[in-house]
Amino acid sequence: MVCLGNICRSPLAEGILQHKINKRGLNWIVDSAGTAGYHVGEAPHHLSQKVAKQNGIDVSKQQCRKFVREDIIRFDKIFVMDVDNYNDVKKICGADWNETKVDLLLNISHPNENRNVPDPWYGQEDGYHKVFKMIDEACEKVIENFS
Ligand code: 4NP
Repeated sequence: MVCLGNICRSPLAEGILQHKINKRGLNWIVDSAGTAGYHVGEAPHHLSQKVAKQNGIDVSKQQCRKFVREDIIRFDKIFVMDVDNYNDVKKICGADWNETKVDLLLNISHPNENRNVPDPWYGQEDGYHKVFKMIDEACEKVIENFS
């Protein structure tokens, strides 16, 4: 799960998908990263933590890391939150880029629409609730489609 800062959206996506994986007893490995390194080592944004907790999910132990080229080799699927993330991942991967592995997360819940998960960073708490709901619906489909 990849966004820009690995502080707001992708930590929620990691937490939500991990929660669904645990509930179903799947043996998947999920992780998240940011295309930028502004917040490396930090915990998720306090509003991502708060909204996750209200939905029974603890993301407080996550630590921000930057997306690295090896991630495209290590992981079977890379879900990005928006089209900027898609282009940045492509750039970071260089010759290891593999288009079949990377997609916008919302293309799973809304196929072929190329919708972005909006960045809640500059907004208020309601933005985090909206983003949680979008990511949750998409992750439910991820489980349905790939399990
Ligand atoms: P995220 O949001 O990509 O959902 O983690 C952002 C977090 C931090 C910044 C931008 C977006 N930033 O500019 O520091």
